[in-house]
Amino acid sequence: MSEDLLIAKGSKQEQYESLLPQIKGLLEGEPDLIANLANVAGALKEQFNWFWVGFYLVKNDELVLGPFQGPVACTRIKKGRGVCGTSWQQEKTLIVDDVEKFPGHIACSSLSKSEIVVPLIKDKIVVGVLDVDSDSLNSFDETDKNYLEKIVQLISL
Ligand code: SME
Repeated sequence: MSEDLLIAKGSKQEQYESLLPQIKGLLEGEPDLIANLANVAGALKEQFNWFWVGFYLVKNDELVLGPFQGPVACTRIKKGRGVCGTSWQQEKTLIVDDVEKFPGHIACSSLSKSEIVVPLIKDKIVVGVLDVDSDSLNSFDETDKNYLEKIVQLISL
């Protein structure tokens, strides 16, 4: 697959539909997890131009910053802390329309306004999370949840 991403215009769903097979292509034949997480973060950032998109990986019972696109971020998050740590604890995707209203939200940047966090699950255990931050309120909905969950399932963990 060529390394150039084809950027789609149109509805959010159309954008994800165009991106999904391209992400599949990017991941095909590459076994290295960090390389794959880096490319998924890059592809999502390029298509949607979100403020921050990246991964945290569970290491020694903490989430540790992994490949991402965007401004520098907090490196370690404990289970149950912030949106990422809560998604890990609850083992489910969390959509936060207004981060200021989420108790315990960890503000890596004051520009971040809404957020979605999708757990990465291997053999029924959360091994990391995909975190996406937007600088607008109410950026994420069920469409994002459905497609981002599909995208993380493409990654061999
Ligand atoms: N806001 C996240 C922390 C990670 S940064 O946004 C990149 C949280 O509350 O878990």
